[in-house]
Amino acid sequence: MNYNIALLKGDGIGPEIVDSAVKVLEQIGKKYGHVFNFTPYLIGGCAIDACGEPLPKETVDGCLSSDSVLLGAVGGPKWDTLPGNMRPEKALLGIRAAMELFTNLRPAKLYPALKGDCPLREDIVANGFDIMIVRELTGGIYFGERGMREGKYGEEAYDTECYSRMEIERICKVAYETAMKRNKKLISIDKANVLDSSRLWRKIVHEMEKDYPEVECADMLVDNAAMQLVRNPAQFDVIVTTNMFGDILSDEASQITGSIGMLPSASLGYSTRGLYEPIHGSAPDIAGKNIANPIATILSAAMMLLYSFNLKKESEAIVNAVDKVLEAGYRTADLAHGAPSRSTTEITDKIIENL
Ligand code: IPM
Ligand code: MN
Repeated sequence: MNYNIALLKGDGIGPEIVDSAVKVLEQIGKKYGHVFNFTPYLIGGCAIDACGEPLPKETVDGCLSSDSVLLGAVGGPKWDTLPGNMRPEKALLGIRAAMELFTNLRPAKLYPALKGDCPLREDIVANGFDIMIVRELTGGIYFGERGMREGKYGEEAYDTECYSRMEIERICKVAYETAMKRNKKLISIDKANVLDSSRLWRKIVHEMEKDYPEVECADMLVDNAAMQLVRNPAQFDVIVTTNMFGDILSDEASQITGSIGMLPSASLGYSTRGLYEPIHGSAPDIAGKNIANPIATILSAAMMLLYSFNLKKESEAIVNAVDKVLEAGYRTADLAHGAPSRSTTEITDKIIENL
């Protein structure tokens, strides 16, 4: 088959890690007889520099006419002082909205080879953990009404958390269906002791329970969830939560896997066209040094093969190759703890050798 992939390399380490994933996909194409066509588009700071805006129309059109999108990372100190709607990050929100990617799947699992990298006590992770975070991605406080105004104490700024029944139902449907394919345990995370939006969220989660009688569903307050993730991560199977809570909890989950450089993500909507990106940022401090961990992006490409193209074998081949490379002890600097480490391209080549 022929697949057209839009590449949004972005800023910082974005280009290096996307190049790694492209090399892996090209090898998969060779081995399994697929053709992947890659078309690069600008996004984030590099787009601001070249066209004066973080998300040029050409990029949006290119993504919407592709079969799927692979993204590196956006942002950096150079663009940090720009106003909110001109920041590179705004492009990320813009492309998620333009592609209607309301679902963000963020798997966090402990690779046996990385047990020693997990900062949690050995007995806590003795049995490992394998969590799928289902984060709502196009609603909530990221997209709610916002602004500046004169308030009781003078100048003030506000952002609003708002969720409609439709938005809650569609993300919960994905979460329940994800749970059905896994261990049938769903934990919905909210702040229903304080927020009205959470109370509606919680009500709808439970209304939908009757459609999925096999799924064991429970609620957890977000402050408690932050604690439970480090106290006993193995209690989680599927988590469903709002845009902002999901953003925060997925960074926390990434740390207990050993490195944020390991976590891929898939952003999905109504069609098979998705956007795949590592959950980490552009790491400007290590950009261009060929030391970034490419694994999160390579695993994001594996998620693309599975969720957008239904290429299960090919996707598993990538995951297994990553496993083998970690088992063999190869590490980028983020996982080497000061010991000699391998470069981005060396790790990539090792993964390709193991496909
Ligand atoms: C993420 C990032 C983004 C988010 C930022 C860069 C807008 O932190 O993908 O987790 O908050 O969604
Ligand atoms: Mn984040």
